[in-house]
Parts: sequence; C-alpha cells; structure tokens
Amino acid sequence: MPTNITQRGTSTFLFFLLLPLLLQFYPGKSELQLNYYAQSCPRAEEIIKEQVINLYKKHGNTAVSWVRNLFHDCGVKSCDASLLLETANGIESEKASQRSFGMRNFKYVNTIKDAVEAECPLTVSCADIVALSARDGIVMLGGPRTEMKTGRRDSKESYAAVLENFLPNHNDSMSLVLSRFQSIGIDTEGAVALLGGHSVGRVHCVNLVQRLYPTVDPSLDPEYAEYLKGRCPTPDPDPEEVLYARNDRETPMILDNMYYKNILKHKGLLLVDQQLASDPITSPFVEKMAGDNGYFLDQFSRAVVLLSENNPLTDDQGEIRKDCRYVNTN
Ligand code: HEM
Ligand SMILES: *[C@@H]1O[C@H](CO)[C@@H](O)[C@H](O)[C@H]1NC(C)=O
Repeated sequence: MPTNITQRGTSTFLFFLLLPLLLQFYPGKSELQLNYYAQSCPRAEEIIKEQVINLYKKHGNTAVSWVRNLFHDCGVKSCDASLLLETANGIESEKASQRSFGMRNFKYVNTIKDAVEAECPLTVSCADIVALSARDGIVMLGGPRTEMKTGRRDSKESYAAVLENFLPNHNDSMSLVLSRFQSIGIDTEGAVALLGGHSVGRVHCVNLVQRLYPTVDPSLDPEYAEYLKGRCPTPDPDPEEVLYARNDRETPMILDNMYYKNILKHKGLLLVDQQLASDPITSPFVEKMAGDNGYFLDQFSRAVVLLSENNPLTDDQGEIRKDCRYVNTN
C-alpha cells in the first residue's frame, strides 16, 4: 500500500513537472507575453500610448474607433490586423463589408504606426497596435486600465469573404450573438460586458430605421422612439448622409454602465442592444452591470483581454507589416 501511494505521488509530481513543457508544445497555443517588445523596441508601448493620447486630444472619437477596431479585428478569426488591409493585390478589404459600416479614423492608425516605425522599423506589428490602441483608448474613455500581452503578428490575408460568419448583424438573435462570442472563447458574462462598448459612439440611421418604420418596435420606449424619429426622419436614409444617433445620450464619450441603465429603460439603439436586456440568459448580467459600474468595468476588462488574445499569429506565422494597409511586398 505505502509504495503504491508513493508511486502515484511520484507520477502526479512528474506530470505537474512536465505540464509546462507539454503546454509549450501544444500546437496553436498563443505565445503572447507581457512586454514582448522589452528588448526589441523598449519604448513601443509608450509611443503607442503617446499617440493615442495626442490623437484623442485632437479627435476624441479616435478612442471610440480603437475600441470598435478590436472587436472587428479580433472577432474575425484572429487578432492579426486583417481588418486594416486595403483592397489591393488580390486582397478584398474587410472594411468594405456591410458589417464595417460607419467605421472611421483608420488613417490615424497610420499615424501611430509611423511613430512606431520611426523608432523601430519593422518590429512592432499592426495587430499589437490594434490591441494596445484599444487598451489605451479605453483609458481615455474613462474605462479600466487593462494589462495586455503582446507579440501578435500580422496576417497576409483578409477574411472579407467569411466575415459575416463571425461578426453578428445588428438585428441577429441573442442566441446567435452568444454562440458567436462563445466560439471565440468569450462566455455570456463577457459578451454582455463587451456590448457595453456601445456605451460610446454612434449608430447611423440605416441601422435603426427598421425599428422605427413602418411601425415602431414595441420594445422601444415611445418617447425615445419619437426622439429617434427626429434623428432619422425617413425610412430609407441615404447611407452617405451622416444621420446618426448617439449610443448613450447622457455620457456619450464615457465607457460606463449607462448603456445597461438605458437598455433596461427600453432605450437601446440596436435590436441586439435591446435584446440583451430582455433575453433571460443575459438580463441578469445586464441588471447587475446597470447596478454596479465597478463590476461592469472589471468584466469589461476581463473580456477585452479574452478578445485581444483570440487566436493570434505568433512566432514565424504571418509577418510584421511595414504599412498596416498592405501586405509586405518583398
Ligand atoms: C453583437 C455584436 C455587435 C453588433 C451587432 C454590433 C453592431 C454595431 C453597429 C451596427 C454599430 C453602428 C455602426 C454605425 O451605424 O455607424 C456599432 C457601433 C459600435 N460598436 Fe458595435 N456591435 C457589436 C459588438 C461590439 C463590441 C463587442 C464592441 C467593442 C467592445 C463594439 C464597439 C462598438 C463601438 C465603439 C461603436 C461606435 C463606433 C463609432 O462611433 O465610430 N461593438 N456596432
Ligand atoms: C436585418 O437587417 C438587414 C439590414 O441590415 C436586413 O437586410 C435583414 O432583412 C434584417 N433581418 C431581419 C431578420 O430582420
């Protein structure tokens, strides 16, 4: 008996001793690490933060864009800056997709990249710029400071053709939305928190009119519906026209739990926003987040990290793009 126990103890001990080694060789496991550029470009994270702050001072809504960029890049297959590629040389830009409607400030990603390239050429990936600018943008919007790993590499392809299989539409069902988040490793509580990203920014009328015309969606607060009709006076707005409504009229540039308070009052802009409050799977989290901003911010921060670590390219995969808009030409 005693020998048996000792033997089992020894093999358990060996297993735990070997575990880190086994995990290291587990294929596809992310190799992101904190401060990945400590040796190769020690000021990388500082430069990105400086640029995010400067841009925020000139154009406050850049910070809002960095948050949405994280979802649209990491939410589609991998955090690999595929989002930033332009249509050129056989690549179809993801930015041209209907799902990317209203995305803005891409030219200022180049501003950040240029500043980083000036210090360390061909060293810091566009994918890490997407991740770190989102992290620093969140802070500018009054959100939580989040520790984020780096070492992502850039894709040599875009996923425009399959993008809609990853990013939900504004009117998709909550069960579909949750399953999409689930498939990139984000649990229900995390998904509810991430939708709090809609606490900032705007929605164009094309994404709203379905809820206003020909009849008003009964899940909309009637007074709020009148306000929205004022913002979007016709059922078929010209997409070129910049008609839009604020996601959060009270604190439109602050990442806070006002979004959850609003959707509980039937003042959600998108159908998915409203369903978040009414679906029995998500509504308990919505109520908790509406009642406790600290809890929301903790969950938001946790989910942002999960999102930012979705299936990155590492080591010798992909490349470090010289210009975030194009695959390298060498
Ligand atoms: C079910 C998931 C989601 C759907 C269907 C969705 C859809 C949309 C739509 C339709 C817009 C408005 C676009 C426009 O008309 O200009 C929007 C804006 C925005 N979304 Fe989402 N979104 C989702 C999840 C997220 C997540 C997870 C984040 C980030 C954590 C996010 C961040 C934003 C931001 C910041 C804006 C405002 C952009 C701006 O003002 O420039 N969204 N989203
Ligand atoms: C969802 O919205 C799109 C337009 O963005 C529309 O074409 C589609 O018919 C809508 N789907 C449903 C189920 O209402």
